[in-house]
Amino acid sequence: MKQLAINGGTPVTTRPFPSWPVWDEKEKQNLLRVLDAGQWGTIGNESKAFARRFADYIGTTRAIPVNNGTQALELMLRGVGIGRGDEVIVPSYTSAASVSAVAYIGAMPVFADVEPETGNLDAESVRTCITERTKAVLAVHVAGRPCDMDALRVVAEEHHLLLLEDCAHAQGSSWKGVLCGALGHASAFSFQTGKVLTGGEGGMILTSDDEQYVRSWRYHHSGRAPAGVDRNSLGGQVLMGGNGRMAEWQAAVLNAQMDRLEEQRLLRNANQQKVTERIRHLPGVIVAPEDERITSLSGFRYTFRYIGGRDAFVEALRAEGIPCGKGCVPVHRMGFLNDPAFEKMTGRRFEPNIVLPNTERLSQEAVWIPGEVFLADDEAIECVAEAIRKVAEAMQG
Ligand SMILES: Cc1ncc(COP(=O)(O)O)c(C=O)c1O
Repeated sequence: MKQLAINGGTPVTTRPFPSWPVWDEKEKQNLLRVLDAGQWGTIGNESKAFARRFADYIGTTRAIPVNNGTQALELMLRGVGIGRGDEVIVPSYTSAASVSAVAYIGAMPVFADVEPETGNLDAESVRTCITERTKAVLAVHVAGRPCDMDALRVVAEEHHLLLLEDCAHAQGSSWKGVLCGALGHASAFSFQTGKVLTGGEGGMILTSDDEQYVRSWRYHHSGRAPAGVDRNSLGGQVLMGGNGRMAEWQAAVLNAQMDRLEEQRLLRNANQQKVTERIRHLPGVIVAPEDERITSLSGFRYTFRYIGGRDAFVEALRAEGIPCGKGCVPVHRMGFLNDPAFEKMTGRRFEPNIVLPNTERLSQEAVWIPGEVFLADDEAIECVAEAIRKVAEAMQG
């Protein structure tokens, strides 16, 4: 057996993997077009074009481009009328933003556990979290794998809850042929720099509900109504809005990035599949089960679990030349929930003694590889699989 690089052996690869983001002349041309047009902010041609294109791609009638994914979540929640006194069921196995956005608008995030195999919200755990105050379930498609939307929909419908989506990781993922972002009542996207569709920063709210659209729009545009809407509706011309508008620079870059989204997604998926075939039977390695209801994947992150010392596994894999990390840190253990600001926002204290065994376990077993690694050539993809094999066999040997 070859010696591991972490113990002084030769690494499987020393070649750099593709960096992210990827751009070319298209982005430059679009940015210059904005510069020359002289309209740099406030809902110009680039953001309008991007909103239309993204809504068409995902399959909703309405889209609101905003300046980041956190704003998209907050404005989506405000748009459906959620606020202080309400509860929203969230996973803990996600980014802090999925949870803090709920608290920021005054509502109480309530943590449900996730499925151990996928890291996504577990519908049965969601069911146990429902109270009279529950208004919505926030389905986060973690790492780009769609949640079991059938099971979550059943629970939401039974209890008359809104089913909302956090699609920050899921641009291009789909469930039974419907793209994430069009599966619930409304959805929020992030186009932050690490995402598979990026403008450096950026976000989007999607919905096909006109009333939600108008409300979220007003909240993102200092209270003003969108064009074509009776400006006196909803009690006067201006609602109490904030400013979440996307700048034209962001939209210009996103319009160019959009041209590459599908091609890059397909390449990531094909290469991730190759690695899965190679590693699925290795000792200690558990890949997520196939699910024929998942009809496409964004490939934002390639994830698997390693049983038998994940932290050491990740260190060893890095030493072999493969970029990788440990996935999500459970949000229910983050300090902001116990900060006085949380109680001020929500009017309630966070009860820290919740038990989320699957979330805890996953946070100790998950291995995540960034999506851009899978834009590499065949030789490099072979190295990814080979390095996982080398480390897994050495550690179990
Ligand atoms: C699942 C999830 N939701 C929301 C966000 C927030 O997005 P942004 O960083 O664009 O505010 C992130 C982080 O980027 C995320 O990973």
